[in-house]
Amino acid sequence: MEQQVTDDQRPLVIQGAMDVETRVIEAALTEAEEEPLGHYRCVRGRLDGYPVVVCETQWGMANAAAVTALVIARYHPCAILSQGTAGAHNPGLRNYDIVLGARTVNESAWQTKYAARGAGIDPRALKQLGVFAWNEQQQAFVQEVYHAGDKALLAAAEAVRGSYTQGNVLAGTIGTCDSWNCEADRILFLHEFYGSDVEEMESDAVAQICLNFHVPFLAIRVVSNSVFDGDVDWDLDVGPACQRYALSVAKEFLTHHT
Ligand code: 5AD
Repeated sequence: MEQQVTDDQRPLVIQGAMDVETRVIEAALTEAEEEPLGHYRCVRGRLDGYPVVVCETQWGMANAAAVTALVIARYHPCAILSQGTAGAHNPGLRNYDIVLGARTVNESAWQTKYAARGAGIDPRALKQLGVFAWNEQQQAFVQEVYHAGDKALLAAAEAVRGSYTQGNVLAGTIGTCDSWNCEADRILFLHEFYGSDVEEMESDAVAQICLNFHVPFLAIRVVSNSVFDGDVDWDLDVGPACQRYALSVAKEFLTHHT
């Protein structure tokens, strides 16, 4: 699977979990070639002449982390963008609003406070734990709760804000967990406890692996469901909107920030 890549060929990788989160980006590529990573869909091509690789990770943290490690080993990317749908934690967000991941957080990394047998369960009695990722300053794996998005990628994502007309765009906190929360009060607790604006199932796992291999990373998520709008299904039509935003970010980053 290993392949030699020179510096000027180091591609930008764009990930999405499902085909509704990847196919618009794939369609924008020229010279597209399918190069699967095992059973994971992976397409290499060019965007305005720049090398880009699109990966369909499938749902969840383990899948996204595995694809990230494999794509780093094979292509030595210059950066990785994880984009796709998410559920609102911030009650002010609506479907089609976009959150740029100024930081990501693993919302399953907590420890419950001690309680004796028979004392019951308090879902709010938690201490934040964080996950271990490589810390460049300390030259060690360090357990941290939040992982900051890459500055240059975030600057590119901020720079194209004006091109998005389907909703608001905010730089915020993206919470990741292999769970889907539908209780408004639990969501409000997570919103306060972690400061998360949205929840999804991939970004912080990808951030963790990117830190471990020194690859710049940013998550971009579009709101597809909000319990604050009632018990509604997710709207998968938002997937293409997020991909178009990610394409603008990719072009901006590749032309001005690399
Ligand atoms: N909770 C968790 N994941 C969500 N996703 C969209 N909305 C939510 C939500 N409310 C994303 C995940 C995963 C798939 C279920 O869609 O990132 O890929």
